[in-house]
Amino acid sequence: MGTLISYFTLMKDKIVERNILQVIRNVSIEENINAYLVGGYVRDIVLNQESNDIDFVVEGDAIEFAKIVAFKLKRKKVVIFPRFKTAKLTYRSFDIEFVSARKESYNKLSRNPDVSGGSLIEDLSRRDFTINTLAINICSMDEIINLYEGIKDIEKKIIRTPLDPDITYSDDPLRMLRAIRFASKLNFKIEKSSFEAIKKNSSRLDIISEERITDEFFKILKSEFPVKGIFLLEKSGLLEIVFPEISALKGQEIKDGIGHKDNFIHTLKVLNNISKRTTNYKLRLAALMHDIGKPKSKYFKKGIGWTFHGHDDEGSRMFVKIAQRMKWPNEVTDYVSKMIALHHRPISLTKEEVTDSGVRRFLFEGGELVDDLMLLCRADITTSNKKKLNKYLENFDKLSEKLVAVEEKDKLRNFKPPLNGLDIMECFGEKEGPIIGLVKKEIVDAIINGDINNDRTSAIKLLTSIQRRMQQN
Ligand code: CTP
Repeated sequence: MGTLISYFTLMKDKIVERNILQVIRNVSIEENINAYLVGGYVRDIVLNQESNDIDFVVEGDAIEFAKIVAFKLKRKKVVIFPRFKTAKLTYRSFDIEFVSARKESYNKLSRNPDVSGGSLIEDLSRRDFTINTLAINICSMDEIINLYEGIKDIEKKIIRTPLDPDITYSDDPLRMLRAIRFASKLNFKIEKSSFEAIKKNSSRLDIISEERITDEFFKILKSEFPVKGIFLLEKSGLLEIVFPEISALKGQEIKDGIGHKDNFIHTLKVLNNISKRTTNYKLRLAALMHDIGKPKSKYFKKGIGWTFHGHDDEGSRMFVKIAQRMKWPNEVTDYVSKMIALHHRPISLTKEEVTDSGVRRFLFEGGELVDDLMLLCRADITTSNKKKLNKYLENFDKLSEKLVAVEEKDKLRNFKPPLNGLDIMECFGEKEGPIIGLVKKEIVDAIINGDINNDRTSAIKLLTSIQRRMQQN
């Protein structure tokens, strides 16, 4: 294992980072206070990964220490959390945090520790995973401090807690999600007793806020192995607690000897397919949730088998409720609920003879989501029958070509009707009301069906004829 000196050499191109560490080292020497690089920053050095979060444990007053560092780095702003004896400052793209070495004890009803002064060793022992207990003394530039075999665990790709896992997870249940997040980010295995403790403590997740859960959950979705994350969430029992709607996809029912596919396994395959094509977490989320409406819309039709009619609209409504419960931002709610509602459209389009008007309607309704919907559709093909797979993909290729051709001709994506409500109200001399909506729809339908051109002159002509028709009735 390299020393900090060799790390400084390695950093010769990272001028800003090296400067920050040199300044902190000088403060440590001048003030005669031990300061240690800790946590994710040291883990990432060992993993040879970049990190912009630099965390220090200070054996002394971290807040005073941070103020001196800020002065030397010419930073005016230091954010202080006196209750946690923590101070934070930013320098260029780096977040630098100082915390006084602490001995934490936890209150059963809260995830916030009571903090009192302690030593570095005590501080490290209270951390979540051995891979996060590594430390480097910035002053003496010694070897990496490796009290809990964190380096061995990194080499063996293992997530393990430094103390009894029951204590570590029950102290702070968010760590159960963190364990799964690190496993899916680094492709590590969660050690057996640790995983058993997660199962045992899974219900303790109820003291964690939706915001904190979301933060970890979205990190799992953005990670390199999101399917591994969702699989572990399910195995540990955490998925059932956070997203029972996804857990409900599990299993297969058989009637009259006819079964349907296990929609949870199918969903994992779809997520796997989409994750190979995009890192966009919202699209990955749409893939994960696209079939959540299936259990509720499942129906067995004698002589035909299982049907899931309306699962797209059902799923979309269910997703809006999930998003409200999790306090997700509108951009996530709007995007994913629309993706779920429309995820079956391209499939239906390829099942029938692809007509121009069907394609126009899809372009109009899908708008800027059309490309993502096409990606989701391709990812949704999980058949192991090669012949069928090629046939489906061929159909989507044909549809894609058609989309390009119609789009070029009619410019319907992000389409704004050539007449708006105000135009119609003016023509009819009426106030806003259901009639105006109906007339607007008739004009849009006429454009989509190809009955009139997508321009203002044609729309006004149609509007006049609608008006005449209405006067006659
Ligand atoms: N930590 C912990 N328990 C938590 C959160 C954090 O013990 N629930 C400790 C870990 O030692 C972690 C350090 O605090 O390394 C810093 O936390 P954070 O910045 O959230 O995580 P990192 O490990 O740095 O990883 P990342 O930046 O990828 O989130």
